[in-house]
Amino acid sequence: MTTDNTITKSSSAEYFSKNLQQVGFSSFTKATLTTVKEAIDNSLDACEDHGVLPDIRVEVDRLGLGTAKGADLIRVRVQDNGPGLTLEDAVKVFGQYLASSKFGRGRCSRGQQGIGISAVTTWSQLTHGTGATVITRTKGMKNAVQCEICVDIKKNVGILKTKQIVDWDQLSGVSCEFIMDARVQLNGDGGIITYLQGTALVNPHLNLRYKLLDAEEVFIERVSDTVPLIPERTSPHPHTMKLGEFLAHSHLFGKTNTKKWLKEGFSRISDTVIKELIEKGMPESVFNKTLSSVSEDQLKQIYAGLQDVKLMAPPTKSVMAIGEADLAKCIQRLGEIDFFAVETRKPTICDYKPIQVEVAIARRREKSEDDRDSPVQILRFANRVPLQFDKSACAMTKAVETVNWRPYGLTQPKKSLPQGPYIIAISLVSPFIKFKNASKETVDASDELVEEIRHALQKCGHKLSAHLNREIKEADMERKIQHLEQFAPILVDGLCRITRSNEKRKERAMAGLEKILGKDSREAEKEFIHAQEKSEDATKLMAENMGVSHEELLEQMHGNGENDNERDMPEQLELIVNTGSGK
Ligand SMILES: Nc1ncnc2c1ncn2[C@@H]1O[C@H](COP(=O)(O)OP(=O)(O)OP(=O)(O)O)[C@@H](O)[C@H]1O
Ligand SMILES: [Mg+2]
Repeated sequence: MTTDNTITKSSSAEYFSKNLQQVGFSSFTKATLTTVKEAIDNSLDACEDHGVLPDIRVEVDRLGLGTAKGADLIRVRVQDNGPGLTLEDAVKVFGQYLASSKFGRGRCSRGQQGIGISAVTTWSQLTHGTGATVITRTKGMKNAVQCEICVDIKKNVGILKTKQIVDWDQLSGVSCEFIMDARVQLNGDGGIITYLQGTALVNPHLNLRYKLLDAEEVFIERVSDTVPLIPERTSPHPHTMKLGEFLAHSHLFGKTNTKKWLKEGFSRISDTVIKELIEKGMPESVFNKTLSSVSEDQLKQIYAGLQDVKLMAPPTKSVMAIGEADLAKCIQRLGEIDFFAVETRKPTICDYKPIQVEVAIARRREKSEDDRDSPVQILRFANRVPLQFDKSACAMTKAVETVNWRPYGLTQPKKSLPQGPYIIAISLVSPFIKFKNASKETVDASDELVEEIRHALQKCGHKLSAHLNREIKEADMERKIQHLEQFAPILVDGLCRITRSNEKRKERAMAGLEKILGKDSREAEKEFIHAQEKSEDATKLMAENMGVSHEELLEQMHGNGENDNERDMPEQLELIVNTGSGK
């Protein structure tokens, strides 16, 4: 490892320990949520990478007062059934920043930066003096190991404080525990339950158990047995990179030949593109040198040249959507829903990045008076992770606000969210989601992306309005029928009197009317009674032939006379049957 690298690593641990607010530790309540979130996101990524159906258990307890004013002492424990980590890897993962960074890996993973869980260890360490307590076991380990891991903030290396072999009833997995100054917020935008339910919504293959404070344990069962297929990775497109990123990318490949780096490290740079750069004045020799011997000025020139070249858009095969069928199943996990529509767009390119948008609109069955005037609930997801903060600046919120929802049947004050008992869930998947901040809370609202989300919302809006129109028509029809039911007999009676029709004629007119109103249920009742009588005759005959009493035979057939027919028979019919049979 070069000295430069050591310096970079050291400063990253120090930098983040001083700037934990940038990675989700800006308040005590956020500290608990970030801890739960980072651990679960990692567990889900690890399970997905290894084709395991995730079983995750979360526990949050309040142990007492924290050390800082206004803080509680909170313990968070997250356990998974993933591949587990070797002891050596666990020390790096929990104790070192950027240890196994997925940065620039080009996959739709939840983790992108390689700082999440080390930041949690740092917070525990700074506020409670303990780091992460980890139990880990891989399939190759004979026993599970429990260890305490801290971050060496000066050197950015993990410190293994203690380790011991422990009994664990799992063949593989990781359980991590953190004790820290924090506070617990369960519901609302920044709530833990909101995060957990959101996670369940977009991860149909997840079995999730959670026990929060003194509440009963909750179990959310998976609705799909398919582990999402991890799509191929894709390389960054040169038009999506800022100059600094381009230069940083070059440092990762120092010894590589420049031409090879450009062709293999990026999307859509071909020999023809390089030829074009040479024709535009870039010396050919530069492309045959190793990257470390190319000057920064020349790299800047290559970067500028690339921005002027027309390049194909990157491929879209690297994105991984949830799918309409699974999203539809997951919607039921939101609680009592009486209508939903889902829309999965085709993968597309926005701002030179492959992206896929999915939208679901659901209407809650339980509606209160306030619902009508309250904004709809928006659930935002990026690579299947719920986003809970800073929603106003997010591309997804912008898209909802700028759709005109009134033609679709919702009320909407000017330039704001529509209103009603609805949940609008928007999910973006992309190997290169552009977040506005390091704590991955808001997606940058570029025009192209907002437009793509709007298209998905509008498609769902069409489905919603079709449903609402049907409901309005049905309600209208029902009202008319009720009117007719109320006044038609009076009308028939009056008409019969005027025309001096006899009783028989009147009865026929009444019957015809009932038929028109779809009230021929009396016919069905009569047929049902007839069938009952026939079946009674048949069982009586059967009992006679068998030499048992009718009651004995019925008991044998249905058990205690509480047969399903009797139990399910509507009260009205039961009355008719009973009086009809003379009992
Ligand atoms: N429970 C786990 N099981 C297996 N591997 C894990 C687990 N938790 C973390 N890892 C590994 O440790 C790596 C580092 O995790 P970390 O959270 O620090 O970064 P990340 O997930 O890559 O990115 P981000 O900073 O965006 O969270 C992960 O990429 C993963 O390979
Ligand atoms: Mg992570």
